[in-house]
Amino acid sequence: MDHHATDVLTDWDTLRAGIPPVWARYTDLVVERASGSWIETTDGERYLDYTCGIGVTNTGHAHPRVVAAIVEQARQGIHLQQNIVYHQPGLELHRRLPERYPNPRADTAYGLFLSNSGAEAVEAAMKLAKRATRRTSFICFRGGFHGRTHGAMSLTSSSVKYRAHFEPLVGGVHFAPYPYPLRMGGADAALDATMAAIDELFATVVAPDDVAAFVVEPVLGEGGYVIPPDGFLPALREVADRHGILLAVDEVQSGYARTGRFFATEWTDASPDIVIMAKGIASGLPLSGILAPRSLLDQLAPGSHGGTYGGNAVACAAALATLDVIDEERLAERAHRLGERMLSSLRERAADHRSVAEVRGRGLMLALEFADGDRLTPRPDLARALLAEAMARNVLLLSCGTHGQAVRIIPPLVTTDDEVDLAVAVIGDSLAAIGA
Ligand SMILES: Cc1ncc(COP(=O)(O)O)c(C=O)c1O
Repeated sequence: MDHHATDVLTDWDTLRAGIPPVWARYTDLVVERASGSWIETTDGERYLDYTCGIGVTNTGHAHPRVVAAIVEQARQGIHLQQNIVYHQPGLELHRRLPERYPNPRADTAYGLFLSNSGAEAVEAAMKLAKRATRRTSFICFRGGFHGRTHGAMSLTSSSVKYRAHFEPLVGGVHFAPYPYPLRMGGADAALDATMAAIDELFATVVAPDDVAAFVVEPVLGEGGYVIPPDGFLPALREVADRHGILLAVDEVQSGYARTGRFFATEWTDASPDIVIMAKGIASGLPLSGILAPRSLLDQLAPGSHGGTYGGNAVACAAALATLDVIDEERLAERAHRLGERMLSSLRERAADHRSVAEVRGRGLMLALEFADGDRLTPRPDLARALLAEAMARNVLLLSCGTHGQAVRIIPPLVTTDDEVDLAVAVIGDSLAAIGA
């Protein structure tokens, strides 16, 4: 027989078994190609990808402008290391991204530090906050997800699975509840409870002048796609100012036009001290970063942080093309408009399903939460069943929430009205099929 090349290419079961189980899997699909909102598998099926690779492909799969920028830069040089030389896309990105600072302060110069993953950007934010304040503690929020490296994992509480059997983690991390209107008696009560819990932490567990930073997601991601009360970030800003604490917003999942503004923080008037970015930043190439005032960033001494690949030239070229696409195709406005359309039609479709406790969303960051009659007993089984039914109808979705009780919908921002309507129809049919 000819060399085993054919077997290697097509024996998916054997090949899949070669991947360790630490990569939890939603599907067994093997992709042939992906373009725009669609994934095509090796067996010729087409799926509407409303997972966006967990919120990454905001410009759609393989946007032609992003692909062209990648190819062109790869020809000019792939790895042009940051400690050794400057490269043009990196210089340009360091000029352009700070201009996107959400709610910038007057007379403040902002800068950028680039790394490779969301977790790595969180690590950078933690080190910067410690260095700039000479303090060592952090206050984070229950249900938050910030990544799986040791520092980032220490801030994470969206599920015990991320922490179990890995203790001890980084010390000095304290948690307040994330204001979760559905589960905390509405927006006002949730905000009051959260701010009271922070006061309680200050009175019982950690002195405010030991706290380097609040680290918070402007919209809770893995923890359930929860939109906090409007006053949340401003209230944190006020407490932070009172005690010399920094406010670090983790925009890894909520940023890059996802919620209808470039950063979700822009739905408020709070001006953060550190902005953590990844996922949508380079349309799928591994790139992440933090934005912060230069007065803070300049306190990190040369060599005290960094990495071999941070600010990779090809990834920076993809990031510049991503910014161009977001601007020229007006993706923030598009996310807002399509998000409103999807939210209202999903609410209509879900109205008769008593186990759908809430349909919520901001822009194209949407979720359905399943709970029993009292609306508070989580029903992860229904979320799982909905994913399976939607997949059987060729629509890919993800779950989220501490118990896996919510289904999140993360369309690419280039998706069309027809695709949105198709997804809503499929979700509606799937709700009926699972008897929710
Ligand atoms: C809000 C948030 N922060 C940080 C991370 C970690 O990013 P990464 O998986 O690239 O390390 C994620 C990933 O889902 C996230 O959603």
